[in-house]
Amino acid sequence: MSRIFLGRGLESEANIYLDASKSRAVLICGKRGSGKSYTMGVSIEELHRSADVTILVVDPMGIFHTMSLPNSEQESIVWDWGDSPRALPVKVIVPGDPVERYGGSDIVQEMERRGVEFRALAVNPSDVSPESWCDSFGTSINEPMGIALMKAIRRCRQKYGKEGYFISEIASEVLVDPRANDRTIDALVNRLEMANQWGIFASDRYRELSEVLDPNSVNVLDLSVIDSGRYGRRGLILSVLCRDLFRKRSVARRREELGLAPSKRKFWLLIDEAHQFAPVGRSALGKEDLIRWVKEGRQPGLSLVVASQQPSAIDGEILSQCDAILSHALTTSDDKTALNRLTKDYMKNEIKAYINQLARTGQAVFVDDDAENIEVIQIRPRTSKPGGSEA
Ligand SMILES: Nc1ncnc2c1ncn2[C@@H]1O[C@H](COP(=O)(O)OP(=O)(O)O)[C@@H](O)[C@H]1O
Ligand SMILES: [Mg+2]
Repeated sequence: MSRIFLGRGLESEANIYLDASKSRAVLICGKRGSGKSYTMGVSIEELHRSADVTILVVDPMGIFHTMSLPNSEQESIVWDWGDSPRALPVKVIVPGDPVERYGGSDIVQEMERRGVEFRALAVNPSDVSPESWCDSFGTSINEPMGIALMKAIRRCRQKYGKEGYFISEIASEVLVDPRANDRTIDALVNRLEMANQWGIFASDRYRELSEVLDPNSVNVLDLSVIDSGRYGRRGLILSVLCRDLFRKRSVARRREELGLAPSKRKFWLLIDEAHQFAPVGRSALGKEDLIRWVKEGRQPGLSLVVASQQPSAIDGEILSQCDAILSHALTTSDDKTALNRLTKDYMKNEIKAYINQLARTGQAVFVDDDAENIEVIQIRPRTSKPGGSEA
């Protein structure tokens, strides 16, 4: 059975595990600096060690590449826990050209020297739905610009097939739209040209997105190099990836069930600072895809881990799907209340009461709906180097 070793119970002194042999949805929360990213790193190490799964980490802060180094700084605590510091194989997936994104070839070379391997990600314009284009351009499919875009994409599909067109083909179709007025055409073509300059789109051939993922490495999608800006580019990338992986995994699952193929690897998606992608009370690119991932992804074998300093800022549909929670210290009452809503019958007290017991960094309340257990635990030390300590 594949299981994730998380740490030790403060009261029970027992080793605490999360069963990872089936699909899970896990929430990691806690105030700034309480150890969320560290704990996410522990989960990644364990998934890599013990579970036969493909791992994708969505990293808006650009901190997970340090997993390619051993955790030498905390060597003695790691030994206390009967383990030793260890480097992991890390692939850093960068939307666009790594040298350009990081701002210098010396940076890329130094990261490579530390064991990181880079993979460039190019989003296929034909994988972007008309709705997502509209969201990226701040319009909707009911407005003239959205309508013209939708028609242009439909014509591209007819002419070039699902995988054979790029932004310039879409723009060409917009230019010859007989029903759209000049202002609409100008505005839309402008936006398409701008999108081309984001440097994240494929412009010559269709690339399978899943090709960039290495099943034997920790795949880190570094979104820190992309503006979180108003166009929601980070969300767009996540959305396209989620949909592609969901589709692939569903097809693979169908084959497995019909005995047409041996079972393939399951998939774990881990998202740090997840409130960016699934904010409460407003739409965001990628949000619907994440909701679908947790709601419908279990059966085909998709798991999700989200970390956020503000559980109250994460969409309720995602929170309510979480079957395990690791909560570090929380301070605001909104956040404690959001978490408390997830209290279940089997708990003797409300989650809040456990959170108030947390005394130091690295401690967390672990709620496991699957095992119907709640307990305060000490998270085990990282064997690979944790990133993101403040300068
Ligand atoms: N379980 C732990 N054991 C030892 N040090 C930890 C542990 N959890 C967190 N830390 C340390 O605490 C600091 C903050 O952790 P971090 O994961 O970056 O917090 P967050 O993501 O919640 O802002 C880091 O310097 C990290 O090394
Ligand atoms: Mg963090």
